Amino acid sequence: MKVLLVGGGGREHALAWAISKSPKLTKLYAAPGNAGIANCAECIDVSAEDIPAICKAVKELGIEFVIVGPEAPLVDGLADRVEAMGIPVFGPSMAAAELEGSKGMMKDLLAKYNIPTADYQRFDEPDAAKEYIRIKNHPVVVKADGLAAGKGVILSHTLNEAYAAVDQIMIEEAFGNAGQEIVIEEFLIGEEASFFALCDGIRAIPMAGAQDHKQVHDGDHGPNTGGMGAYTPAPVLDDAIQKRIMDEVINPTVEAMAKEGKPYKGVLFAGLMIGEEGPKVIEFNCRFGDPECQPIMARLKSDALEMLLASAQGNLDKLKLKWDPRAAMTVVLAAEGYPGRNAKGTPINGVEDADAIEDVMVFHAGTALDDNGQLVSNGGRVLGVTALGDTVEDAQKLAYKAVDTIDWPKGFCRRDIGWRAIGR
Ligand code: AMP
Ligand code: GLY
Repeated sequence: MKVLLVGGGGREHALAWAISKSPKLTKLYAAPGNAGIANCAECIDVSAEDIPAICKAVKELGIEFVIVGPEAPLVDGLADRVEAMGIPVFGPSMAAAELEGSKGMMKDLLAKYNIPTADYQRFDEPDAAKEYIRIKNHPVVVKADGLAAGKGVILSHTLNEAYAAVDQIMIEEAFGNAGQEIVIEEFLIGEEASFFALCDGIRAIPMAGAQDHKQVHDGDHGPNTGGMGAYTPAPVLDDAIQKRIMDEVINPTVEAMAKEGKPYKGVLFAGLMIGEEGPKVIEFNCRFGDPECQPIMARLKSDALEMLLASAQGNLDKLKLKWDPRAAMTVVLAAEGYPGRNAKGTPINGVEDADAIEDVMVFHAGTALDDNGQLVSNGGRVLGVTALGDTVEDAQKLAYKAVDTIDWPKGFCRRDIGWRAIGR
């Protein structure tokens, strides 16, 4: 089977690596891929967001299955376009991707179907939003409705912070069009975790739980990033909680989407707060988490291509997933300055040595080869150093051993990935 993978980050390298092991695969292309993905796929010079160019490539290359990594092309309707060409695609339709693309729509759906989430209200006008904040008079979270590249959420502890957040999003348009509408919600208390389920339009099967570290510095300090590291399984998601997540969140959401005429296919990534009352939805994403996808793929024992195809073709009832019983952790190496301005083109050495360590996989995110064939940085998050271990602590030890094998003076990482799990 000829496959096109859309995207070029650590998530897509992990997917490419996993798919490459499938005997069903005859040829893997990636649009646009990166220097690591190039080791297991042919990278084509097409942006992940250029839907017409992707469709053209699908036709010209005789692609038989398209796997979409990032959310933006899904929210823009790439899956619909590919399916209209008669080709199966992993990832939800434009209408279903609204679960990530519009926080307001997502909250309304959860409310309508009694799926646990923070209390909320939607606003398209700042004065009404401020009046609501004044009456609520307790900490709130202010969110831009649309996609804001993982930003667009402001946690407000005081009234004045909340008013300022409304101004920032609606008047100063800090997140552009995404902030024309906002959602204001109750501040949830508990431990945050992610849960990934595969869906095929009518049913869902659990994949794995994970936790990531969004803040840039040790101890969860500093500005938010796309994620500085992740591990799976997450001890907070024990068997009983996982069952509740499937029963109270994932299955009802998939049923609700089908009832609404927007059947959900692909991976459903639930960001959850696990508090005293059990799991509550913070957000949904319509794609794998990055870096979470990296440790998850490291633990997957089943045929990844078969798995993604079963989701795309509505055959999840026949699929039984097998997992490595061990834990896996990814430590992200980022370019100095990230998530702010950072230099591209700085040389990185030792990646092959790290990758050669048993039970270590180094996934590339923002990398490229320069004219001399030297591996260089080409983005904010650059590498995802991933390791397996009997416990999260063992996986952490091995991941940092591999990190220390890599010579990249202009890079940095957090040194405490996994502290929550290890502290338990
Ligand atoms: P989101 O983009 O919706 O995932 O929000 C980004 C981060 O803000 C989440 O990962 C949480 O840490 C935090 N957050 C969002 N909504 C809430 C909430 N209602 N209560 C507490 N924390 C929240
Ligand atoms: N690591 C969080 C995300 O992918 O949204």
